[in-house]
Order: sequence, then structure tokens, then C-alpha cells
Amino acid sequence: MKPLQVPEMATDSTAPLLYWLIRTLRPQHVLEVGMGYTTPFLAKALKDNKEAYEAERELLGTPESHAVQPMAHAPYYNAPYEPRLICIDRMTDTASSAPRALKVMEELGLADTCQIIEGDLRGSSGKVRKAVGLVDFAWIDTWDTLAFVREYWDLINPAGGMFAAHYLMTYPEGRAVLRYLESLRGRENGRLEITNLREPHRYGQNSTTLIRRTRDYVDPEDLRPEGNSNDPTGVLNVG
Ligand SMILES: C[S@@+](CC[C@H](N)C(=O)[O-])C[C@H]1O[C@@H](n2cnc3c(N)ncnc32)[C@H](O)[C@@H]1O
Repeated sequence: MKPLQVPEMATDSTAPLLYWLIRTLRPQHVLEVGMGYTTPFLAKALKDNKEAYEAERELLGTPESHAVQPMAHAPYYNAPYEPRLICIDRMTDTASSAPRALKVMEELGLADTCQIIEGDLRGSSGKVRKAVGLVDFAWIDTWDTLAFVREYWDLINPAGGMFAAHYLMTYPEGRAVLRYLESLRGRENGRLEITNLREPHRYGQNSTTLIRRTRDYVDPEDLRPEGNSNDPTGVLNVG
């Protein structure tokens, strides 16, 4: 992945952060706008997720599964995990490693779940919707995040979908995006989580903002017919 690294793009710590967010949240449909060093990290996370999902599915119901059983719930494993990565880039930025990303992904065996839309993010949301429907996780690394939020908001899964956006805290247009996001809270019934991760202490670093839509989110624990797995002793169910 190193050949894709461009120091000015300031994603050396962001790329592993995105990898671990995807490993943690296990999204099915991931969208990236602004390709380069980060792209193989996203694809690798989805590949590793699929391997983990399949290994866990094999374990279910076996004695070895007891260690994970409290958090695992069988209905999740009834649905297939077929992750997809959609990447949008207009490929016109001469400083960007975006045009080389696909070749590196092919060399790493990561290209098969990835679809590239070459063009401007503006006007491309229909293609994304057609390809994957709702997006569970998105990474936006362009100066056009406001255009993204306006056009793609309804594509971000309202049941826990997250998008991460670069630079919002350190350029005027980014602050406009943050204000716009705050204005969406009413439409989301207040169920919108925003976390700003600023990196003032690192040379060449910037900020990453995490935005999570929870308007239609239902905690899987509340769907368990047998009760809450955070209470393996059953103490809370007594009486
Ligand atoms: C900051 S670079 C991406 C860096 C990359 N994530 C990395 O880690 O190396 C921004 C990329 O977004 C693309 N881009 C910028 N504005 C865009 C837009 N409106 N639509 C599509 N692509 C855009 C550029 O072509 C460029 O490749």
C-alpha cells in the first residue's frame, strides 16, 4: 500500500483508522469518494471481515463458540455477508495516487469486490444507489463534502450508517458542512452522532469527522427473543 502514499494527502493515520472502523462496524456497502492510499485499506477491511464472518459462522453452535456466544446472535449469521466497495474519483488531480489505486489493489488481490465510478461525485449518486442501494459506511476525502452531504444524505443507511469526512475542521467550507449537519438534526429526530477527531499535534495531519445516522437504528439486543445477552447470568430477568 506504501506506493500509494502521498504525504500531502495526510491519510497515513486515517487509513488504518478507517480499516479498524470497518472491521468494527462490519458494513456491507462501503463508498469512498477520493481514492488513493486509503482505498486498499477499505478493501482489505472488507476482505478480512468476510473471512471473520465465515469463521464465526462455522463456529456457531459448537462448544468452542461459548467464548463468543454472549455477543453473537444467530439471525445475523442467517443473512449472507457480501461486502461491496464503490469508489468515486474524477481522476483529474495530478497530485493524487487515485489513478494507480486499482493496479495496486489488483496486485494485492483486493480488486474483486471493488467497483470504480470515474467521474464527479456530483450527479453520481444514482449510480451508487443502483449498485448497492443504501451505503453503510462512507469515506469522503475531497473539498466537495457539502455537495456530497446534500446529494447523498438519503443514501447513508439511517439505521446506523456512518460516514467519515476529511478536513472539516480546518477549512471554511468544512465548517459550513458541520453547520449544515447540525441543521439536519431536526430531520433526524435528533438521532445523529457527530464526533470530530482533530490532529493538531501531528505535522501534515488534519481532522476526520465521524457522522452516524441512528434515526432508524434498533439495538440488536432489543431484538433477541431470549432476552438481553449483556445479562448472561439472567439476574436482570428475575421477577
Ligand atoms: C485528497 S485526494 C484523496 C486522497 C486519498 N484518499 C489518499 O488517501 O491518498 C482527493 C481525490 O478526490 C478526487 N476528487 C476531488 N473532488 C472530487 C469530486 N468532486 N468528485 C470526484 N472526485 C473528486 C480527486 O481526483 C483526488 O483523487
